[in-house]
Amino acid sequence: MFRARVWVVAFVSTLFANGVFASDTSSTTPSATVDGNSSAPRPTGKWISPEYKWFFEYPLPISPVKDSKLTYTNESSGALIDYYEVEVKTLKKQIYPNLPECDMIGYDGITPGPTFVMRQGREAVVRFTNNGPTNVSVHVHGQYNRAPFDGWAADYALPGQYKDYYYPNAQNARTIWYHDHTEFVTGEHTYQGQEGFYIITDPEEQALGLPSGKYDVALGLASRVYRANGSLWYETNNDVGLWGDIIQVNGQPWPYFEVEPRKYRLRLLNGAVSRTFHLSFHEGLDGEVVSFYAIASDSGLFSHPVNTDSIAISMGERYEAVVDFSKYAGHNITLRNSRGLGENVDYAATDLVMRFVVGGSVSDDTNNGDVPSDLHYIPPPPTSAPAKDFTFERIDSEWLINGVGFTDVENRILTRPQRGADEIWTLHNGNGNGTHPVHIHLVDFQVLSRTGGRNTVLPYESAGMKDVVWLAGGETIQVVARYAPWDGIYMFHCHNLVHEDHDMLVAFNVTQLEKWGYDNSTIFIDPMQPEFRPKDIKSEDYTEDAILKKLEWFFSTNAYNKGDVSAVYSALDAYATGGTPLPPASTETPRNISTLQTVSTTAPTSTITTPPSSEVHESWSHTRSAPSTHKSGIY
Ligand code: C2O
Ligand code: CU
Repeated sequence: MFRARVWVVAFVSTLFANGVFASDTSSTTPSATVDGNSSAPRPTGKWISPEYKWFFEYPLPISPVKDSKLTYTNESSGALIDYYEVEVKTLKKQIYPNLPECDMIGYDGITPGPTFVMRQGREAVVRFTNNGPTNVSVHVHGQYNRAPFDGWAADYALPGQYKDYYYPNAQNARTIWYHDHTEFVTGEHTYQGQEGFYIITDPEEQALGLPSGKYDVALGLASRVYRANGSLWYETNNDVGLWGDIIQVNGQPWPYFEVEPRKYRLRLLNGAVSRTFHLSFHEGLDGEVVSFYAIASDSGLFSHPVNTDSIAISMGERYEAVVDFSKYAGHNITLRNSRGLGENVDYAATDLVMRFVVGGSVSDDTNNGDVPSDLHYIPPPPTSAPAKDFTFERIDSEWLINGVGFTDVENRILTRPQRGADEIWTLHNGNGNGTHPVHIHLVDFQVLSRTGGRNTVLPYESAGMKDVVWLAGGETIQVVARYAPWDGIYMFHCHNLVHEDHDMLVAFNVTQLEKWGYDNSTIFIDPMQPEFRPKDIKSEDYTEDAILKKLEWFFSTNAYNKGDVSAVYSALDAYATGGTPLPPASTETPRNISTLQTVSTTAPTSTITTPPSSEVHESWSHTRSAPSTHKSGIY
């Protein structure tokens, strides 16, 4: 509830003395020794948390799929919007069997939160009700939400408020995730449990015959630290990173998962605060490597599967693997992590992730065939000239992008791509040499090149579209994206959440096209647009009638061109080639905001605790877009 934002100077010598920063990896003895008859590892290296001894003894938790509460049907068009309600609240979770439960905060009081499975073409509104103790801003990472629904870091709901997020679900099938994005505390909130999967499916993907149902499993990786009493410790190593020594999958330290000897689709997410992983599957504990097909990354399926022995995955990235367990009936396969990656600090068991216990028989052989060699169309990257340069670096005690951070309200919009334009962005890793997984909101990009450091784009980084790229020490990376389909202000940042919170988070403004007649009065440009802001919880807003009215109003805003986003792209193409300079039927017709009256148009006047220093970060509504100045071209 209180935002503690203390700038701590990194006393490197102290860190070395404490061993937190151990550059000498020999201080963490490799752990993988097999103990007699059992194949349970007995790691002997260093711990910061209490030693964990229950390797592969507890099953992999699988979060429930979230059900919608009701569906709105538009009478004239037949369009549907599914409505969901999620409550953010505290929970207790048993991590150590021998220690007290640990306090966390999660969506619906579970962590990871419930899994959303969305069908392409079916819009949704999700109401996040904040009954927890901290501020809440929700970002669905990997979807092109209109700016007011994208989890802008300053657009948080206070305890006692709720916010309705309107989602398009119009993109190709992809594994995305939702997590907290509250300014300066994203790391802590995500760590405390606010993260979950959000999966979009589409008919093209469904027709491929990939493993599905119980053979399609989402694996969210995390790394945490616990105190002797079992409580969570947010130990940020003085703003450099939180590497953590307790590796978790779907919230469980080092779980096991029973599989059948057949193919599985595994959706991997690195949801850790700061730890990067380099993952590989091994027979037994540390035997032969089991190669697999990588089939998808952040923005969905690859053009073709990529056969590989391992995958490097930084924070925020997703990769999907098809792993064939058919040769291993009755044996174990262990998912392992490499030591010595980037700036990670390794501990006793950070080389272990989870175990697959392969059973003796297959109960269902459908979707168990070869992975198709053609998966999805990926357009060739455009060949425009590099347009923008961004340097990610540490200056004094802050992590910044071109010298700017999110606290620099006046300057934090670093660039204004023209809507519909392709731009190549050059991302440099500057002073501080940190590992910076660079995440650009709104767009899918292609990774064009990497120079310095690893000096190569890995095959699974270039086989599909992405929204995070791992910019390691010494590297320069070029990515190309089309800044579309929407205009508005979006964030881009480092996904080492400790860096993001201190202060490696900035924004870009996809400009409105003047010939389409837009000005700053259109309502989806500003992520702090008052009518979409969080509101105080009132029981009358939760009646079926009030909800249906609200959904009707959302539909009337035409946020997503009545679901026809391809028409938006065609119109942008036409605009770019000097063709028809007309807006697509949709994209926001300036409206009379008074139609909102039934829903309440007032921005929350919070009587609930506001963090004392928040006004300065409160952004647009306060400092820039109060109604009278809202049209003044401030962007
Ligand atoms: Cu996964 Cu801007 O975040
Ligand atoms: Cu970073």
